Amino acid sequence: MQRNFSSRLVVAAMLAGALAACSGEAPADAPADAPVDAAAGSDVAAPVDVEAVLKAREATFEGIGDAFKAVRGELEKDAPDFALIATKATEINTAAGKIDSIFPAGTSVDDGYKTEALATIWEKPEEFKAASQKLIDESAKLAALAKDGDKAAVAAQAMAMGGACKGCHDKFRLDDKK
Ligand code: HEC
Repeated sequence: MQRNFSSRLVVAAMLAGALAACSGEAPADAPADAPVDAAAGSDVAAPVDVEAVLKAREATFEGIGDAFKAVRGELEKDAPDFALIATKATEINTAAGKIDSIFPAGTSVDDGYKTEALATIWEKPEEFKAASQKLIDESAKLAALAKDGDKAAVAAQAMAMGGACKGCHDKFRLDDKK
């Protein structure tokens, strides 16, 4: 859990962020392929490999975004592939379960990183956790409903799941288009 990170780590991460901000580059000592889950998910203080964290976030959310696009694409068809919708909803469900582990403290846009993660994530950890839990719940519902093959019900649930994306983005993701 990000709340259990030692302050020493936070300071180290902030320093790395400051350096990255000055040079416009990633901290030189950040190996690209360190195990993110192990570092972020454990209560034991482990060094945060910020570059790997940012990459994991990008991969996770792009995967979620692509899966959601596939769901919407099916729902535009007269005869959607409900098995595919169920598969994609399950992919989103699995990815949503990882959200908590890819936001270690000290990795917000305010820490100088190229990220859309707002500091609010760590200021309101319970709300952030609730927002990721909402996506877990809504995607599970979508996967279950898809098996029944009722297009209207599936479309309504896809909308509800989209609300979980928007709900989190509105509060916790930097919108640079505003
Ligand atoms: C619990 C909060 C939360 C939920 C739920 C959530 N997102 Fe996000 N999303 C974020 C944050 C925070 C970022 C910015 C991450 C960063 O820049 O490091 C993001 C980034 C993204 C990105 C940009 C990825 C990139 O860097 O290229 C996409 C696409 C995306 N989300 C799609 C979705 C979709 C689709 C859903 C719903 C099915 C969703 N998200 C649900 C918090 C959330």
